[in-house]
Amino acid sequence: MLQDSHGRILRDLRVSLTDRCNFRCLYCLPETEAAHNFYRGHWANLPNSKPILQQWVPRTHLLSFEEIERVIRLAVGLGIQKIRLTGGEPLLRNDIETLVARIATLPGLEDLAMTTNGFLFPQKGQALRQAGLRRISFSLDSLDRDNFKKITGRDGLAEVLKSISLAQELGFHPVKVNAVVIRGLNDHEIEALADFAHEHGLAMRFIEFMPLDSARAWLKELVVSGREVLDRLKQRFDLRPALADNPSSTSKRWIFADGRGEIGIIAPVSEPFCGHCNRLRLTADGKIRTCLFSITEHDLRSRLRNGESDDQIVSWLKGVVWQKEARHHIGEPEFVPPSRSMSCIGG
Ligand code: 5AD
Ligand code: SF4
Repeated sequence: MLQDSHGRILRDLRVSLTDRCNFRCLYCLPETEAAHNFYRGHWANLPNSKPILQQWVPRTHLLSFEEIERVIRLAVGLGIQKIRLTGGEPLLRNDIETLVARIATLPGLEDLAMTTNGFLFPQKGQALRQAGLRRISFSLDSLDRDNFKKITGRDGLAEVLKSISLAQELGFHPVKVNAVVIRGLNDHEIEALADFAHEHGLAMRFIEFMPLDSARAWLKELVVSGREVLDRLKQRFDLRPALADNPSSTSKRWIFADGRGEIGIIAPVSEPFCGHCNRLRLTADGKIRTCLFSITEHDLRSRLRNGESDDQIVSWLKGVVWQKEARHHIGEPEFVPPSRSMSCIGG
């Protein structure tokens, strides 16, 4: 088992397949003119800590499919039940369906999911489904073409909408949709996004903006709390609490009264759920992170490439997990954002 010193047993491994991305989301890789303008309007003085200039991981440092499969196999042997493939943008990895097919059949793995921005999904959806992927989450922060472009740096709303309906046609279930809510940017679209989820029978997730952007431009006043989102949605929709949420689940879920579609609120900033966190992360360059906000990473790549045995890696991993941090410190004076953005860490 992978157990930490705070009594938590880890069941969920998030694997970043690449740090590269074909989007430049304002909350992740805010490198666009529109992102700069947005933040400039909110900062009297721009952040004193220097922005992290996005330096892509050298290709030779990216784990190969064989290496990723080995880590996942060992992790599943240690009680990991759920794998989520993320990025950056995971669909930028060539031949990703081959990796999915290899992982999907691992005995002991209960759940295999992927988080993608959806831009390339129309080309890949069918192959991913055939390879055994069943669950998928798309990012969709706006239903307005211009606002979508402002937020993501890419004129891709039509592709993402197409991806969502294709995923439903292909039988992915549930199809989740993530929206990061940012004050003054897309908070006016909360109701429209919920309406969209209801109309299409989607699992919509509203996520609080976390300090994980590469420019370190996050500001507390840009966070729209989960409570505020829920209060607004309750005024508009008849929402009922969904039954029996798993305590390790990041979201509090609500279903529409007619049973079509659901809403989830993910509030890591205002209502941290660290006490029940059962997650572990593997970065694209083979570092283990025990928390989204870890300031240290543990180098697995060199162990994989130095010929360590499965037993050696397993006992090292248990030691790393034992040190998992109790909680994050967002909002506290001593908080230090991690040195890498979400695109490197994997959402
Ligand atoms: N705050 C909250 N969520 C974020 N994501 C990326 N960056 C941030 C951030 N700074 C989410 C996106 C995406 C997932 C991979 O991570 O919504 O769906
Ligand atoms: Fe946006 Fe995800 Fe790409 Fe970051 S990794 S820029 S959140 S699509």
